[in-house]
Amino acid sequence: MGPATLMPLLAAISATFTVAVGAHEPVLQVQEPAQVSYNAVKVPVILGVMSRCPDAHLCETVFDQVLQKVSGKVDLSLSFIGTINASEPDFGVTCMHGAEECAGNVQELCAMKYTSQNEWWEFVQCQNFHGRDNVGLPETALKCANTAKIDWEGSGVGNCTGVDGSGKAEEGVKLLQESVKTSQAIGIKKSCTIIINGKQVCIHDGTWKDCENGHTVSDFVKQIEEEYQKLNGDDMEA
Ligand SMILES: *[C@@H]1O[C@H](CO)[C@@H](O)[C@H](O)[C@H]1NC(C)=O
Ligand SMILES: *[C@@H]1O[C@H](CO)[C@@H](O)[C@H](O)[C@H]1NC(C)=O
Repeated sequence: MGPATLMPLLAAISATFTVAVGAHEPVLQVQEPAQVSYNAVKVPVILGVMSRCPDAHLCETVFDQVLQKVSGKVDLSLSFIGTINASEPDFGVTCMHGAEECAGNVQELCAMKYTSQNEWWEFVQCQNFHGRDNVGLPETALKCANTAKIDWEGSGVGNCTGVDGSGKAEEGVKLLQESVKTSQAIGIKKSCTIIINGKQVCIHDGTWKDCENGHTVSDFVKQIEEEYQKLNGDDMEA
């Protein structure tokens, strides 16, 4: 082996050594447990839904139980399904279950934007509890904001939705259009579609479909726990 071949080899060894030393640094930094949990990455979970859809309500009921087990490890969001349609006067979107569904979607999106996960989730559960035909009505939204202890005007939800609860305010309508476009972009076609850490894991469309790793509460909890470990590494096990 001449010097010409030896040089790259030495460079490679030296590079490997640097990487190995570098790899120890984060380990030294995360030894304090408080800092570990503070830095923990939550698992993104997206439910592709429509606010008046029975399949969506079913998924949201299942996920209410999932959250009771792993809420601290989940960054939950709803992504709405609809069709962008410039002929729609109020929303610029056609919603499968009518304009009231578009309004319900806006109310839920505004709650998601301006309140904590616990608050907006309670708001959604409350809307569902009032029955599909009442989701999206201004009086349901105002009642449910009260139930979820959301300060309608002070939080920003009121302005986003329309202070009267109509769902037709500019900011909320824009959120709806963005959400519909995002759903299309990430391939959500059916309500309800469940996406855990970027992977579509299950659909409920009349019945459960394409749920390779199961569709019970404990199946979803298990999948979230696994993704949480992947995102945070073995250091997080304690
Ligand atoms: C677009 O909206 C108009 C007005 O509501 C409606 O008549 C039409 O069917 C909609 N088109 C689609 C593709 O949903
Ligand atoms: C409501 O929202 C609009 C548009 O997002 C904003 O221009 C306006 O200042 C807001 N009003 C209040 C009272 O927050």
